[in-house]
This record gives sequence, C-alpha cells and structure tokens, in this order.
Amino acid sequence: MLKSLIKIRNSIFGFFYRNVFKKIFFLFDAENVHDFFTVTGKILGSNFITRGLTCFFFNNPDQKILNQKIHGIHFKNPFGLSAGFDKNAELTKIIPEVGFGFEEIGSITGEYCTGNAKPRLWRLIKSQALVVYYGLKNDGCEKISARLKDRKFKIPIGVNVAKTNCKNTTTTEEGIADYVKAYRHFLHIGDYFTINISCPNTFGGEPFHDGEKLDKLFTALGKYPTKKPIFIKISPDLSDSQIDDIIKISKKHHVSGFICTNLTKKRENLKIVDEKVPTNGGISGKAVEDLANKMIANIYKKTKGKFTIIGCGGVFSAADAYKKIRLGASLIELITGMIFQGPQLISEMNLELAELLKKDGFKNIQEAIGIDIN
Ligand SMILES: Cc1cc2nc3c(=O)[nH]c(=O)nc-3n(C[C@H](O)[C@H](O)[C@H](O)COP(=O)(O)O)c2cc1C
Repeated sequence: MLKSLIKIRNSIFGFFYRNVFKKIFFLFDAENVHDFFTVTGKILGSNFITRGLTCFFFNNPDQKILNQKIHGIHFKNPFGLSAGFDKNAELTKIIPEVGFGFEEIGSITGEYCTGNAKPRLWRLIKSQALVVYYGLKNDGCEKISARLKDRKFKIPIGVNVAKTNCKNTTTTEEGIADYVKAYRHFLHIGDYFTINISCPNTFGGEPFHDGEKLDKLFTALGKYPTKKPIFIKISPDLSDSQIDDIIKISKKHHVSGFICTNLTKKRENLKIVDEKVPTNGGISGKAVEDLANKMIANIYKKTKGKFTIIGCGGVFSAADAYKKIRLGASLIELITGMIFQGPQLISEMNLELAELLKKDGFKNIQEAIGIDIN
C-alpha cells in the first residue's frame, strides 16, 4: 500500500519535473541553476521542518534487499550522489532526505580554487549529457573540513580528494603534497576516501594515471594510515595497459576499489548527437554510460571481483543501475540522470531496483553483483 502511494507520488512529481520544471530550468545558464539548487538544498537542510517535508516528498521505505555492508560501512541502498554536485559539502543534511544511500563530497583540493573561466557547464540536451569544465572549483580542504568537524552524518559520506588546479601543483612532488594535504584534513571526517586521478579539466592533465607516479602518490598517502576504504576514481578513456598498471599499483597499497568512471574527454562518441559540443571539458551522462560499463566489466573480470567497484556514468533508471550491478558494481553514483529526470528518480530507482532483483530471484543485491561476468 505504502509503496503504491509512493509510486503515484513519484510519477506525479516526475511528470511535472520533466514537462514543466525542467523546461524552465533549462532556459537558464546551467551553472546558475546548479548554484540555485545548492542554495535551495542548504536552506531545506537547515531545519527539521524543511528536512521532514523533503523526506515526505522524495524518500522511500528502507528495503532489506538493498541493504549492504561494504568494508564495514552500512549502505541502506546503493544509490549515491556523485562528486561534483556538492563540491563544498553544503548539502550533507538534505541529501539523505532525497533518498540517497550515500553521498560523495568534493572534489576537495589542498588549496581553494576558483576554477576555470566561465562559461564552464553546458547541457547537451539531445545526447542527455553535460559538458563540465569547472576545473575543480572548491573552497579548499581547510575551510571544508572545518565546516564538517564533529558533524554526525545520516548516511555514509565519501570524501573525494583531488590536486589543486593551478601552476604550483604540476610537478609530481608538488601534486602529491597537495593531495596529501587535502587527505590529511579528512582523516577523521567521512566514511571513505576517493582519490580522484581523472579530472579532465585541470592544469597539467592527469599525471597520476601513470603507474610510477600513482605508486609514489599512494606511498605518500600511506604515511598517514587510515582504516577507511580508499577508492581510485578513473577516467573512462584509459587504455587497457593503463588499467593494468593501476590495478597492479592498487594491489600494493591500501586501495579498496575503483569508481568507474569520471567524465569522458573524447568527442568521437556515437552517443553524442548534438550538433554543437564545446571543445573544452569532460562529458557526462549517456555519453559515458557504455564506456563506464565496459570499464566496470573489464576491472571486475581482471580482478575476479576482489576490488569493490562503484559504477558511475549515465544512470537514468533502475534498469541502467541494475546493468552496472550485474557487470560488477556494488554501488552506483549519479548526477546527470537526476538533472534530466528529476530528484524523484532516486526514490523511483530504489523501488524499481528491488523489484528487478526480486523478479530475478535474488534475495539481496549482493547476489547480483557481477552475475553477468564469467
Ligand atoms: C557538474 C558536474 C561536476 C563534476 N565535478 C566532479 C568533481 O569535482 N570531481 C569528480 O570526481 N567528478 C566530478 N564530476 C563527474 C561525476 O562525479 C561523474 O563521475 C560523471 O558525471 C558521470 O556520472 P553521471 O553521468 O551520472 O553524471 C562532475 C560531474 C558533473 C556533471
């Protein structure tokens, strides 16, 4: 009964979002709309009345079939907000009320950074994708960690750490020092770390895709031990040999898994159907979905499921998420799907994923992970 009412609520909200609200939001500059949602989310998260109302409109019941314990962390459902939406960790109080099972904040860098020059966020409406050229704008590790100090979170929080986008972090040593600074500030905040080595929009490129440099980075991070799991966020554009190198280095260090994937830089992509595509920036959404799925399956197979995979890229429905799970992902992250389909998507996916799992005879989501990989 409750589930049927929630489904009706979701379809009404989804209808209005797609046919009215989205049409209005999409008239405005994408970054301004992003900023508007950040301010709105901060206000909604600021007191128990607006948090309760948000929960009433968007949340969904806890379903045992979606519960998982991964590296000692309890996830009530597998859907997480991906890094880049809540760059400065201002939405941690409202995100649980939208139905997410976890949230990744950041990317957070050693120094604060204003990012690249505007405009730096565009929509590819026909391709159901975004072009992102923010260049890691964020308040920096000192300010953000101070904001979160002693905060108790309702859902697991991942801290996504990257190196500051500036001239002063281009040598390997400077880059590592910057990562280490941000990482150290969060040793006692949040539930897991993500080391983002794949931001496509930064000064000096993505040097830590190189095995030798990655090894040095993890050796430096290893001087500050943590019990928290550490994930590496990788690009969908890596070659097979680069993946092999990253896996090899990961086996040597305290790495629990991978986030597959970040944005794609490549423009020659059959899923990109818009006529005009900005030359700068990485592309999200449907343009990255197949690339991410291929990466999930590849890594799951190569590592025989020994590393935890967080699948990310182009998830617009429960069926999209289920596909990633069956290819080897234990958890799912998204941003673009929520922007194109509406915030009720999280509740819809929770209900529908549980149904898909039951239909295939699974008692818990963990039984389905990697089932399509032999
Ligand atoms: C607006 C925006 C900003 C992003 N910023 C970051 C970031 O700061 N750090 C990061 O690791 N990924 C960032 N990403 C990449 C996403 O976390 C995600 O990997 C990618 O968008 C694919 O997922 P999606 O198709 O569900 O959006 C950003 C994506 C978007 C759309």
